[in-house]
This record gives sequence, C-alpha cells and structure tokens, in this order.
Amino acid sequence: MSRLTIYRDDTADNLILDTEDGRLIAETLRPLNVRFERWQAPVTPAKDASPEEILEAYRPYLDGLMGETGAGSADVVRFDRNTPQIAAMREKYLSEHTHSEDEVRFFVHGQGAFILHLQGKVYSILCVQGDLISVPEGTPHWFDAGHNPDVVALRVFTDTTGWVADYTGDEIARRFPVVIPDLAA
Ligand SMILES: [Fe+2]
Repeated sequence: MSRLTIYRDDTADNLILDTEDGRLIAETLRPLNVRFERWQAPVTPAKDASPEEILEAYRPYLDGLMGETGAGSADVVRFDRNTPQIAAMREKYLSEHTHSEDEVRFFVHGQGAFILHLQGKVYSILCVQGDLISVPEGTPHWFDAGHNPDVVALRVFTDTTGWVADYTGDEIARRFPVVIPDLAA
C-alpha cells in the first residue's frame, strides 16, 4: 500500500500523520506542489516488458502529464539487487539532496520511498506499483528502495542534467529510518 508518514524534522518520534489513504496522501501533498497520483493501465505491462511497451501502456497518462508540466521526455529505469554498484547507489540516494528540475517517477513495478524535507517537517512517501510522484525542483529529499530493491519505473523529465544531485550535507536521513515492506513476505 502507498503510505504517507509525516514527522517533525527534529525527531522521528514525533508522528504528525500516518495514512495509507491515496486520496488523503494526494490532498496533503498538493499544497506543497508535490504531485501524487495513482495510475491504472488497462493492462499492467510485464516486468520484463520492453521500454516501448511500458511507455505505450501509460501513454495517455504520460501525454496528459507532459502537457501539464511541459516535461518533454520519458524513459524506463530498472534496478534490483543484482544491479552493479547497487549498494553504492543506495548510499547516494540516502543522502539529502536537491535537483534543478522536478524529479518525476512512476512505479510500474516494485516500490520505493521518497522522503521530503519541507517547512520543518519530514514527509515519507512510500510509493508502490501504480503510483506517480513528482518532487519539486529544489526540494531537499532522499530516496530508498530497501535492501532488496526490485524496481521498474518511468522517469519524466526535460533535461537529464536535472538528475544531478546537489547534496545538502545534512545528515538528517540517518535520523529517519525508512521501512520498506518485504513484498515477498
Ligand atoms: Fe533525487
């Protein structure tokens, strides 16, 4: 299940909200300019489907999103525990950073959490298959897909230079452990 957990940014013990209600998650994030949507493809592409098949399956959603945001491109990214350098990648994703354009991801398969640091609060957003999230440019955040990642995702972007992470140097991510449910359980 998708899940939003909000904390005060000074302690992970101080829970402000914890919900798995997709509509409430979207409504809570909207004033922060964070887009959260659930997309339903008529047929969910197989995990090993080609990028073209995956893009085609979500084409109506993608066209709508790109029309609204002005983003010009979309591609497919995959990673799992066998991906080269996955442990090092995870460490990088787990450091608070910003980007020069919105980070827009749609989960075709698997799950991952985007954790946003905004206005004195920490918003931990667990995204699962069918979830779209857009992290606004300049928003401090980090990401985790757990010890055993298994992700196929769409990236929607204008310029790949926007993927470059600008690290804040804040160690805050260490104080807010991310729990990724074990899908195999
Ligand atoms: Fe990022």
